[in-house]
Amino acid sequence: MSEPRKILVTSALPYANGSIHLGHMLEYIQTDMWVRFQKHRGNQCIYVCADDAHGSAIMLRAEKEGITPEQLIANVQAEHSADFADFLVDFDNFHSTHAEENRELSSQIYLKLRDAGHIATRSITQYFDPEKKMFLADRFIKGTCPKCGTEDQYGDNCEKCGATYAPTDLKDPKSAISGATPVLKDSQHFFFKLPDFQQMLQTWTRSGTLQDAVANKIAEWLDAGLQQWDISRDAPYFGFEIPDEPGKYFYVWLDAPIGYMASFKDLCNRTPELDFDAFWGKDSTAELYHFIGKDIVNFHALFWPAMLEGAGYRKPTGINVHGYLTVNGQKMSKSRGTFIKARTYLDHLSPEYLRYYYASKLGRGVDDLDLNLEDFVQKVNSDLVGKVVNIASRCAGFIHKGNAGVMVDTNAAPELTEAFLAAAPGIADAYEARDFARAMREIMGLADRANAWIADKAPWSLNKQEGKQDEVQAICATGVNLFRQLVIFLKPVLPLLAADAEAFLNVAPLTWNDHATLLANHQLNEFKPLMTRIDPVKVQAMTDASKEDLTASQTDTGEAAPAGNGELAKDPLSPEIEFDTFAAVDLRVALIVKAEHVEGADKLLRLTLDIGDEQRNVFSGIKSAYPDPSKLNGRLTMMIANLKPRKMKFGISEGMVMAAGPGGEEIYLLSPDSGAKPGQRIK
Ligand code: 2FM
Ligand code: ZN
Repeated sequence: MSEPRKILVTSALPYANGSIHLGHMLEYIQTDMWVRFQKHRGNQCIYVCADDAHGSAIMLRAEKEGITPEQLIANVQAEHSADFADFLVDFDNFHSTHAEENRELSSQIYLKLRDAGHIATRSITQYFDPEKKMFLADRFIKGTCPKCGTEDQYGDNCEKCGATYAPTDLKDPKSAISGATPVLKDSQHFFFKLPDFQQMLQTWTRSGTLQDAVANKIAEWLDAGLQQWDISRDAPYFGFEIPDEPGKYFYVWLDAPIGYMASFKDLCNRTPELDFDAFWGKDSTAELYHFIGKDIVNFHALFWPAMLEGAGYRKPTGINVHGYLTVNGQKMSKSRGTFIKARTYLDHLSPEYLRYYYASKLGRGVDDLDLNLEDFVQKVNSDLVGKVVNIASRCAGFIHKGNAGVMVDTNAAPELTEAFLAAAPGIADAYEARDFARAMREIMGLADRANAWIADKAPWSLNKQEGKQDEVQAICATGVNLFRQLVIFLKPVLPLLAADAEAFLNVAPLTWNDHATLLANHQLNEFKPLMTRIDPVKVQAMTDASKEDLTASQTDTGEAAPAGNGELAKDPLSPEIEFDTFAAVDLRVALIVKAEHVEGADKLLRLTLDIGDEQRNVFSGIKSAYPDPSKLNGRLTMMIANLKPRKMKFGISEGMVMAAGPGGEEIYLLSPDSGAKPGQRIK
């Protein structure tokens, strides 16, 4: 037996100013499954995380809510912790970057870098909000694009023409916080001299630490040459003050990854047998993995290893990068109800459904993963309920009724138990390589074989025949043993199912190596249904609730580094739209000339709308609220006039009218104030 490995694992630290959604969960669930697999195999594996609590966005959000940043981050930490726990994400520690351990480590790392000559200082000129008395990050400045003249563009690029520029190039700049015209002001900034580490990074990024696609991307940055990274921000800022530099603060991205260390340090402080240096010291033999999304690779594969190297710590063993989540093939969308918060999901569905679905689709690459809600229902019901749990429910009853719940010691399918045993190393390799999809495919292949074998033996038929009782008991005991092996293989993904199965099997918590043994002459406990099918109605209820749940989750820092590679960490899933997208919508006042029933349609009304220069035919799903359509005749409403005409069963719909409300009888057609005229544009 080889020595257990010592492994430290992290997931990216979520910002402490927004709710966790299913896009976040893709990362935490996959990390948790990998960690659980390592523990299941007997390795020492420690999983730490924390809230990412600093930055101007958090400071401004707290101000808006009329609370202190400390209160805000405490509230959010409680919410995040509950979400993670309920999704069965089992951190060994969930800390905060706004903690004493992090202040100490950040200061110490900075001082080591400074004393080794890796910090430069110089003055930079930036926009300053004279009302708020603060420097403005690029995304807090808006103005007119210098290239195409589009108004209301952010300080770094134009959404209309794609131009990138400095905020000082914007015409008519305004502070997005106060509306004041910003003024230019100089201030001293501190830079981390990343180019000092070019050689080291060239080697390190090609030493098996990164997936190939990620290493190739990094190579492009390395070939282009690294720039110094601005690690300071001026007061007011919610963060840690830089040692010896009053009024200067560490940029949130400087102390965020150090938060990984700080969370572990906090755990060490409570756990005497854990040694901080054994994991982080230069000569550590422990493994260190960071699971992250592809948007924050530069911070983890360039800045972070360079900081660790410069400050005399070990570097990560691997950075495990994953893609984004799409829902039904598209970016998560609040209007479609696919921007689903963790809590909204949990209000309707079991966490294990999603854990299994993610596992079944997660490879080791950086491709995006699509949560197709129909496929989700179908796959979970067919694989988990139809295949895995089915084996136990088919066999348990006969053992309870025919043999007082005692499994006999006859193995009726030695070739099958052998095949399960032989499959174990391949499944373990797939887990180890984070190829969860391959692991799930192999496990479901085994489940198919077990089901086919039981169907062939048909104990339910044998049971009706005289003198076949021993055979029935042998088949069912074998079936339960095969089920037990599947549960062992699935335990990292489905810890609750495993716990319930352990209770039914009347065994101690199962570990990976238990797959090599079989239960014989063994008393079972009562069988209770281990998992129920997903009812599609619940999925619909979840998306409906997500539509109603329209509060924005602000998941980026609102920070931008004025120089260096520390570009904006924008949330790729942000459902915000640019002003231009909104401006492209032709919203008009429309007069309902005629509203009528549509033959054969349950939900639709046909509306003839006058929009000034023309009449439009629009089908609208508002019948439930307006059973007598004639009441709408002569009324003004609002319509989107430039929606592409849609061919429907009953004819072509040439636009859409606007209504509010949850549905059913509660649909309210919007109307302009009196005085509005058909055809007028809404601005
Ligand atoms: O992108 C984000 O959501 C960041 N809060 C991740 C930080 S990861 C680590 F470096 F702290
Ligand atoms: Zn432009």
